[in-house]
Amino acid sequence: MGKLKVAVGKLNFEFPGIVASGIMDETGDSMVRMFKSGAGAVVTKSIGSKPRPGHSNPTFTEVECGYVNAMGLPNPGIDMFEKEIKTASSEGPVIGSIFGGDEKEFAYLASRMEEFGAVAVELNLSCPHAAGYGAEIGSDPEMIVSVVSEVKSSVDIPVWAKLTPNTSSIQALGRAAEKGGADAVVAINTLKAMVICPELRKPVLSNKFGGLSGPGIKPVGVRAVYDLYSSLNIPVIGVGGITCWRDAAEYIMAGASAYQMGSAIGITGPEVFNEINEGLVSFMKEHGYETVKEMVGVAHE
Ligand code: SIN
Repeated sequence: MGKLKVAVGKLNFEFPGIVASGIMDETGDSMVRMFKSGAGAVVTKSIGSKPRPGHSNPTFTEVECGYVNAMGLPNPGIDMFEKEIKTASSEGPVIGSIFGGDEKEFAYLASRMEEFGAVAVELNLSCPHAAGYGAEIGSDPEMIVSVVSEVKSSVDIPVWAKLTPNTSSIQALGRAAEKGGADAVVAINTLKAMVICPELRKPVLSNKFGGLSGPGIKPVGVRAVYDLYSSLNIPVIGVGGITCWRDAAEYIMAGASAYQMGSAIGITGPEVFNEINEGLVSFMKEHGYETVKEMVGVAHE
C-alpha cells in the first residue's frame, strides 16, 4: 500500500482517498472510523461561526443517479467543534471545512481550525443552496480572490478552495483562487438540482432545489479537473461521483493529486476506501506505475 502515498502541496497522505465534506465527518468518532477504513484524510462537515439548524426536512432524497440534498449547512458552530477535531486528529490528518458570509468570517474560522489542529482548511465557496454563503460568494472571481487572500494572511496551514460547477467557467474560478494564494483547489461541489413529486405536485425538498451528488455527476467532475489541471499551477483535488477504483483512476489521470468521496460512503459504506485502495494497487502493478504521482494528468499527454 506504500505505492498509494500522495502529496498535495506540502501535505503528505498515506492514501489518495479523502472523505468529502458532509458525510461521516460531523463527529470525531465518525472521522476516526473513516481513517480505519482506508481514508488518507478527512474533510469535516462545513462549520460556521454559530450553531445553525440548516433547512427543515425533507433535506435529502435519492434519485436514480445519486442523491439530491439541501441540508442548508447545519452545524454546531466553531466553538463546539474543537473536541471533534482533536479526537479525529489523533488518528489522521483533518482538513477543516468552513463557510462564512465575508472575508473576515472565513479568516476567523480558519484561524480557529488551525488552533484546533486542522492540517489545512477547505473554504466552502460552492454550497449551491444556502443564501449568503457558498456559491453565492464563490461564483464571483473577485470575491474568491478577496476571501482566499484574507484567509491566507490569517493562517499558516494550507488553504484549499472548493469550487462550484454551477458556472460558465470553473477555470476562471480556479484562477481566482490561485491568484488569492490558494494552495489547492477542490472540484467539484454538487450540481444545482430539483426533484418534483408528481402526486404532491411540488418539489420534494423543503428548500425546493438542492445539489446533486453521486455517480451521475462524475463526467462533469472529471471534465472540471481536466480543465483546472491544464490552466493552474497548484494541485487539484477531484471529487464527484467516485464509487470504484476506475473512477478514481479517471480523476487522477485527468489531473487530480488526490480525490474525495462522499456519496460512495452512503452507497457502499466506509469500506469503499479500502476497496478502491486495493483496486488501484492492482491496476498500478498491472500497468507499471510505481506511484500515484506518475499517473496524475497522464490523460493530457
Ligand atoms: C450542506 O451541509 O448544506 C451541504 C454543503 C455543501 O453542499 O457544500
